Amino acid sequence: MNITSLTQYKEQYEAHKDDTAWLETCKEYEWFNFPTKALEGNFNDANVTWFNDGKLNITVNALDRHAKNTPNKIAIIWEPNNPEDKEIKITYKELLERVCKFANVLKDQGVKKGDPVCFYMSMIPELLVGALACARIGAIHSIVFGGFSAKALAGRIEDSSVKFVITNDEGPRGDKKIPLKEICDQAISMCSCVEKVLVVRRTFANLDYNEKHIIINDLLEKASSTFEPVVMNSEDPLFILYTSGSTGKPKGLLHTTAGFMVWSNQTFKNVFQAKDNDIFWCSADIGWITGHSYMTYGPLISGATQVMFEGIPTFPDPGRFWNIIDKYKVTHFYTAPTAIRALQACEDRFYKEADLNSLKVLGSVGEPINIEAWNWYHENIGKNKCPIVDTWWQTETGGIMISNLAGVTKAIACHATNPLPGVFPILVDADGNEIKDKKASGNLCISKPWPGMARTIYGDHQRYIDTYLSTYAGNYFTGDGAKRDENGNYRITGRVDDVINVSGHRIGTAEVEDAINKHELIIESAVVGMPHEIKGQGIMAYAISKGSHADIMSQINSHLVEQLGPIAKLDKLVITTGLPKTRSGKIMRRILRKLAAGDKDNLGDISTLVNPQVVEELINKL
Ligand code: WT7
Repeated sequence: MNITSLTQYKEQYEAHKDDTAWLETCKEYEWFNFPTKALEGNFNDANVTWFNDGKLNITVNALDRHAKNTPNKIAIIWEPNNPEDKEIKITYKELLERVCKFANVLKDQGVKKGDPVCFYMSMIPELLVGALACARIGAIHSIVFGGFSAKALAGRIEDSSVKFVITNDEGPRGDKKIPLKEICDQAISMCSCVEKVLVVRRTFANLDYNEKHIIINDLLEKASSTFEPVVMNSEDPLFILYTSGSTGKPKGLLHTTAGFMVWSNQTFKNVFQAKDNDIFWCSADIGWITGHSYMTYGPLISGATQVMFEGIPTFPDPGRFWNIIDKYKVTHFYTAPTAIRALQACEDRFYKEADLNSLKVLGSVGEPINIEAWNWYHENIGKNKCPIVDTWWQTETGGIMISNLAGVTKAIACHATNPLPGVFPILVDADGNEIKDKKASGNLCISKPWPGMARTIYGDHQRYIDTYLSTYAGNYFTGDGAKRDENGNYRITGRVDDVINVSGHRIGTAEVEDAINKHELIIESAVVGMPHEIKGQGIMAYAISKGSHADIMSQINSHLVEQLGPIAKLDKLVITTGLPKTRSGKIMRRILRKLAAGDKDNLGDISTLVNPQVVEELINKL
């Protein structure tokens, strides 16, 4: 499906009301067995399959066919953390060889088809290569973002009974080095399932290695550079990715092979409209879904050239992103509003000193973008000539769901605009009824299965049903609220559940509360999101503590870093004598959210509280 005009978009949207239209699109890929079936199952039976009788290996599509047709085309330009270090350019031929070598090492170490393999790594080529190597041999990669704590990592390792963990010694990030192997060792000491830890040496720091550790640098070098791709069924698992939900325990979303391949690639092609010689750069970390869909798979399946960046936007100075765009003549740049806002707050000279003329398309992802950030991005980075694609999607959706198509459909500031072919969004009201009016606002649901959707929560299908498919029976509930204008354009307004979006990263309020409540000074807590200028949302906690302690905020924050990781740090802590509760003992978060937003005059009815005086106390403390 190649959409290059508005008419084609409309035609394709119509055509994909019939799910068998996807079989036509399947012809763009190489299969061992071409599928004859498109969609089977539905949201009511909660057992959806796509292309179920197909057989394939996703890496054949991402690597072999390009290694054959365009062997010398650059697949990855790896830009190291330190701008003085040399970049690494990897052609499609070399990338295939590297993936095969890695696959051979995995196999020699005992990794088999169907085994979950956990990666706890920084943004080095071996992370992307290792993930693809898993796909080559049919193992399931489970990548955990390198910013999570040992405890958080351990929870994710245990949840999927991982036997093999892959890490690197240290991850350079700005002027710091993240001690990944050390954190990994701590995590493993809390788990009983891990048999081997494969370590890639990145900084060659002098660390202790024991019998569980296998340093793989030399093994990778010596391994054979061919590896027959394992034949996978369409619905065989490709990866697990953990994300936060509204209860304490993270959910391992499971994505399967063929549907994810089609979705990550079709959305990449049609949303970004990258041409043959374009240079694509998605600044996300591979530890998040964006790095799965728009680094590891989508662009490679298209045979595109892309940048992979090890560092951070502010090192050695806040001009780094813009200098990288200039250095590699990046044409397509995809980042998050939080990064845009952070760089917008820096001196103008940082973007002015770089030549940004190569840019053709800009992208935004992860959270609602505010108009100030949108305008700044459009004017100063895109020089008023680059369409901005505002791409709405989720870890669960596998790829972009609602977005304008660059230069093809109309961009509207701060609007994701229209659904992609095969995506059927609806808005529902509080009673769960679909709102039929064009212009409306409500909870966003998707009414029909699409190929890229997560199939289950690893090891807990009931939770998958409860979280996504039960609230509005027969529909997938996104957890987001949205507005629709009279022309059918969607604007996503943010989460309507107990999930906070901090710097484009999801964190569950219950997860933070559980962690805070473990602290010895805390009796009870309630966590809500609060508006934050750079992060979009910050984390605010109301807590009842034992006695008074001057540095309680910093104590709680170091505790949270230990329990969950730096992204869970509080932006604000209010110590209170009570939390507003209903007669049944439920915390009235609505009130806490309003107070956090400074909206103390619109608290609504508080007479149903058992302790309305607490509200007065909180108002005085804010
Ligand atoms: C949540 C999903 C999508 C990959 C990165 C985050 C919010 C995402 C947008 C957008 C407004 C957005 C939603 C969604 N979100 N994109 N363009 N406009 N909000 O993936 O961690 O699974 O988070 O991010 O609230 O539910 P995620």
